[in-house]
Amino acid sequence: MSTHIGAKEGDIAPTVLMPGDPLRAKWAARTFLDDPVCINEVRGMLGFTGTWRGHPVTIQGSGMGMPSLSIYANELIRDYDAQTLIRIGSCGAMQTDIAVRDVVLAMTASSVGNPSRAMLREIHYAPHADFGLLRAAHEAALRRDTTPHVGGIYSSDTFYDERPDLHEQMVRHGILAVEMEAAELYTLAARHRRRALAVLTVSDHLVTGEDLPAIEREQSFGEMVEIALEAAFA
Ligand code: HPA
Repeated sequence: MSTHIGAKEGDIAPTVLMPGDPLRAKWAARTFLDDPVCINEVRGMLGFTGTWRGHPVTIQGSGMGMPSLSIYANELIRDYDAQTLIRIGSCGAMQTDIAVRDVVLAMTASSVGNPSRAMLREIHYAPHADFGLLRAAHEAALRRDTTPHVGGIYSSDTFYDERPDLHEQMVRHGILAVEMEAAELYTLAARHRRRALAVLTVSDHLVTGEDLPAIEREQSFGEMVEIALEAAFA
């Protein structure tokens, strides 16, 4: 057991998918894994371990925002020796050539700050995905009926951002989309020499105001899980 994860030693697989929403973890585990077993219920942040095409996989909720993700990713790495951590989640598109339902593969994740920021002091570290995972996810996405976009995203600390000028600058600098977790995941993975990637589905559009209806979120979420699993075991 770790501080926030109740799983026993050996209950967590070397490959972990991390949706923000614990109920998504449950849905994904029941939909895509064989013989899923619930390995964590602490604070309702559900985690499941099963197998996918014979490979052991854990799907563990991260909660929303970098401080929450940081707790789970730290414990998965330090206490359970997770090797590959793939965030699966939603994002808000920031470029007009990106549509809702599209898949965004985050090559880099910029942020105003993340929980690792103080440690890096004056260095503006560039959090980045594992190239092998990124390439494999791109190939997996191309094999299906989705439009994968690869590039930089912005990991925000605030969903209700009252600094629209900051979004404007992100758009100007080619940032594809905004979410709230990847920058810290990438930084932790780099520090501990693990592989990390964020596979995201566009749920809303910050420029056009378009929004994905709830019923369609599940379907596009499924594609993302498959892309993440194929990338992890490519
Ligand atoms: N902002 C931050 N995170 C998000 C958004 C957003 O607009 N959409 C989905 N995740």
